[in-house]
Amino acid sequence: MRYLITGGCGFIGSHLSQSLLNDGHSVSVLDDLSTGSIHNVAHLESNPGFKVMIGSVTDAELVHECVRDCDEVFHLASAVGVKLIMEQPVQTIDTIVTGTQVVLSEVNRRRKPILLTSTSEVYGKSTQVPFEEDGDRLAGPTTKHRWAYACAKALDEFLAMAYWKSSRLPVVVTRLFNTVGPRQTGQYGMVVPNFVRSALEGRTLEIHGDGRQSRCFCHVTDVVRGLRGLLETKEAHGQVVNLGATEEISISDLADKIIAETGSSSERVHVSYESVYGEGFEDMQRRVPSIAKAGKLIGWEPEKSLTEIIQDVAADLRDGSP
Ligand SMILES: NC(=O)c1ccc[n+]([C@@H]2O[C@H](COP(=O)([O-])OP(=O)(O)OC[C@H]3O[C@@H](n4cnc5c(N)ncnc54)[C@H](O)[C@@H]3O)[C@@H](O)[C@H]2O)c1
Repeated sequence: MRYLITGGCGFIGSHLSQSLLNDGHSVSVLDDLSTGSIHNVAHLESNPGFKVMIGSVTDAELVHECVRDCDEVFHLASAVGVKLIMEQPVQTIDTIVTGTQVVLSEVNRRRKPILLTSTSEVYGKSTQVPFEEDGDRLAGPTTKHRWAYACAKALDEFLAMAYWKSSRLPVVVTRLFNTVGPRQTGQYGMVVPNFVRSALEGRTLEIHGDGRQSRCFCHVTDVVRGLRGLLETKEAHGQVVNLGATEEISISDLADKIIAETGSSSERVHVSYESVYGEGFEDMQRRVPSIAKAGKLIGWEPEKSLTEIIQDVAADLRDGSP
């Protein structure tokens, strides 16, 4: 099978590329290298089935060529992470909304199956934990720019479902919860790589707010298995499906665990959200997925524990990941 992966030079995309190539498929990647890096796929470049095209998913002509030459599409390209969204408010909305519009329109014209990666952020401030795919969403006001990410991704979901409803385009939407593993950069505010790097370097771990907010961290190899399983399962087409771990930990406890697991002597400090993200920032207290649907559709559940995740991230950073 010939796959197109948009955003394939990113963290998750590079693992997905590797997984597909390992199984003998060919992979073309379309990436503008905005948050991704060619280093993420350097180890794949000797594979004759692997090709990288540098460009944007907002470029309709380029997307037209890429989609024409593939059988199925994983659409991962997106502005990612709340910090980036706060720093580049216009560009991020454009990438998420226009990019997905261009990709879906082309894929629909050629009737190719596609999977979109959305985010647990779309649940917003909902407290109906664990989050179920059909549950209500609760976004904050448009004056708080953080919610632009959730709303732009939700609009992508609406568009994908609209194509399914109007023309039965085989499309799956996955809502990813915090996904972690080797090659993830901490540059855009991702907590695990940031904490592990600080712990390894003996620097202070900065906990945002009181640290009682909690998250569930899923290993990228588990997520990749879920993405592949869902795209190849016909019953998943036209569905929105959560993929994430269910082991919940507060950010404060996460800092302690990372310090212990890495044998670090780092200290921890609390810093205000405002000092990191600017005034008026809101965070969600808990983000726990219901994964019953993924379980029912493809028998999916995460296999790797948080301890394994931390060890893998630490090993990657010790190996000199940038
Ligand atoms: N990592 C997580 O915890 C997480 C959680 C929820 C959702 N997601 C979703 O998973 C997907 C992949 O995220 P990731 O963690 O690998 O992040 P990433 O930043 O490493 O990957 C995104 C990739 O998209 C590329 N890209 C951005 N704009 C582009 C454009 N206009 N044209 C082409 N390429 C472009 C980037 O260069 C990068 O390689 C995204 O859709 C993201 O919203 C990730």
